[in-house]
Formats: sequence, C-alpha cells, structure tokens
Amino acid sequence: MLKGKLPHFASQTQRDLGEEGLSTWKAILSQHKLTREQQIIDLFHRGLEVLNINENEIPDLKILSDILYEKTGWKAIFVDGYEEGNSFYPMLAQKIYPVGNFIRDKKDLSYTPAPDIVHDLYGHLPFLADKEYADFCHRLGQMSVEFMDREDLFRQFERFFWFTIEFALVKTPNGNRIFGAGIASSVGECEYALSGKPKLLPFDVDVIRKREFYIDDMQDTLFLLENKDQLYKSLDYLYQQVLKDK
Ligand SMILES: [Fe+2]
Repeated sequence: MLKGKLPHFASQTQRDLGEEGLSTWKAILSQHKLTREQQIIDLFHRGLEVLNINENEIPDLKILSDILYEKTGWKAIFVDGYEEGNSFYPMLAQKIYPVGNFIRDKKDLSYTPAPDIVHDLYGHLPFLADKEYADFCHRLGQMSVEFMDREDLFRQFERFFWFTIEFALVKTPNGNRIFGAGIASSVGECEYALSGKPKLLPFDVDVIRKREFYIDDMQDTLFLLENKDQLYKSLDYLYQQVLKDK
C-alpha cells in the first residue's frame, strides 16, 4: 500500500497548446539547440534522440511514454500542475513521471511558474530514457516514501533530489557539464550554471541532505559530481544516514 496523496492525473488527454504553444516550444528548443551540445552531459542528448524530441513539434506524450516503458519500465503521464512531494515521490516509486500539461508564457521564455511541458518533457524525460538513471530515480522514490510521515526525514530526500536530479553539474574530460534537468531545461540556467558565477561545491550527501533550497531564482550554489556513478552509489549512504536520524 502506497502512502501519500494520489497524483492529480486530471488531464490524461494531451492538451492542444495551439499555435502560440507550438511557437513557444520551437523558440526555446531552437535557441537551445545552438548551445546545449557543449553544455549538457551525453546522457541527455542520447535521450533526445531515443525519444525523438525536437524543435519542430510538441511530442505526443503517449508515444514517448511507450518508448520509455520499453527502455526503462517507466511511464510518463500528464498532470495539471505542480505535484507536491507527497504525490510526486509516490509516483517515482511507481516509475511514473508527471508532465505538466501546459506551456509557459511566450512573454518570458526562461520563466515558468510551475513545471511545464518544457521543464518536464524536454528537461527530465531524456534522462529517464537511460536505464541506469531511471533505476536510480525509482530507488530514490521507493526510499523516500518510507519516510513520508516524518517531514524532517522526507525533506532530506527532497533536498537530495533538488541538488542532484534538478541542479547538479558533473565533471567530464571536456570540462564541467550539466547533469541536472532543472538546469538542462532552461537556456538561461544552462548559461548561468557554466558561467563561473555560481559557487561550486563538491558533491557531499551530508551537506546536501541538511541544506535548504529555494525554487524561485537562479541557483547560486551548485554541487559538482565526480561522475554519475558517484551519485548512483550514494543512495544507500543517504538512506542509512536518514535512518540514523530517525
Ligand atoms: Fe523538475
């Protein structure tokens, strides 16, 4: 039996985002196509290819979800807006990724009041097309729901998610690259994250699980992974440390 709230699931049918929505989609992806290759880790680019996500059309989520399911056992579904932790993490534990069924306002391409189709579909789903990454997210979801009735412990998983899946950088032979989908889905965040302006801290589970984050501005501190395995292997340690805090 799964704890937590049920996700909203309200609009399973893909909303027609109209000419304006398509034009917003095209503008963001066309602009980002010029720079993303040099900014984001390979995993993301492979995922874009596997899922055939491109600037020409807003993908049919059902088709993407079927490909994801075949590759990793995950499904993607539409939700109406922001899923709070007590519905979001139970979805991860069931290998379901919620995708906002709307698109940001064309007036400000770099800002969205809640995770929209650009953030969720373009930002997160390419990563989730990688089996190892998808398994990691699944395990994180499973672990976190065990602590849903303890706000202080559950919060540690939310912080971990935030500073890694959303906002981590990773070292590569070609220099630092973006690992976090929250950065990858925003042209502005990508530029800023690699500009030398944010403070980079070495990835450290004990620092991350105790560190508060804010969601409504560019991130002034980012954690830098040695490689992706360092992250995947850190999950058991996180779980053990949270258990000790119980
Ligand atoms: Fe996200």
